[in-house]
Amino acid sequence: MTTNSTITINGQPVAFTVGETIFEIAARVGKTIPALCYDPRLDAFGGCRLCVVRVEGMRAPVASCTTKATDGMVVETATAQIESLRKTLLEMVASENRQIDVDPLRGYASQELTTLVDRYAARTGRFAGAYSGHSKTDDPNPFILRDYDLCISCYRCVRVCAEQEGDYAISVMNRGFHTQITTEFDNPLKESACTFCGQCVQTCPTGALGDKKAMRFANEEIGD
Ligand code: FES
Repeated sequence: MTTNSTITINGQPVAFTVGETIFEIAARVGKTIPALCYDPRLDAFGGCRLCVVRVEGMRAPVASCTTKATDGMVVETATAQIESLRKTLLEMVASENRQIDVDPLRGYASQELTTLVDRYAARTGRFAGAYSGHSKTDDPNPFILRDYDLCISCYRCVRVCAEQEGDYAISVMNRGFHTQITTEFDNPLKESACTFCGQCVQTCPTGALGDKKAMRFANEEIGD
């Protein structure tokens, strides 16, 4: 349903359709908001908080990917406070992940975290401490690398498997620093409902999931 509703983003009035989120409207007019757990094919999750924005009249920043626009809303996407908050969030992630630079051949979205960490100069060990996610690089399947030490718990892999493929092959176990992406009974992928479609690899923003075939092929090409 189209209405005459208008939102103002960074000073620019923009008409929107009821039901659209701030994030979607901003993207539509080229005001890209940083994000990590967002994938346009999936239901918004609101987990990473990178997409926070300031909304006039609201005391705290809101996640733009889960906040629907309302008529007359006035939004700022990159105030000094918001940018500082994003940097701190990225420093927390960067401190926990043992590796930020990953092989781009791991997957289509694998450079998303690296790009944001560089953009915000967030490469620090400021919050060094406990780590979540433990790699299962010994999983014997020939297609998908499971390097969960690089996982940031955005659940894009779990969500794409369920929402796009309807396979529900992977899920989440435990919480906090014990969070772990897993399969039913924590079995290898081959013993799960996984069809090796590769969607999880292609949506992973950190390279925690990798395309073993592409990486193998590249290594053979350069004679490794
Ligand atoms: S992109 Fe909105 S919370 Fe992650």
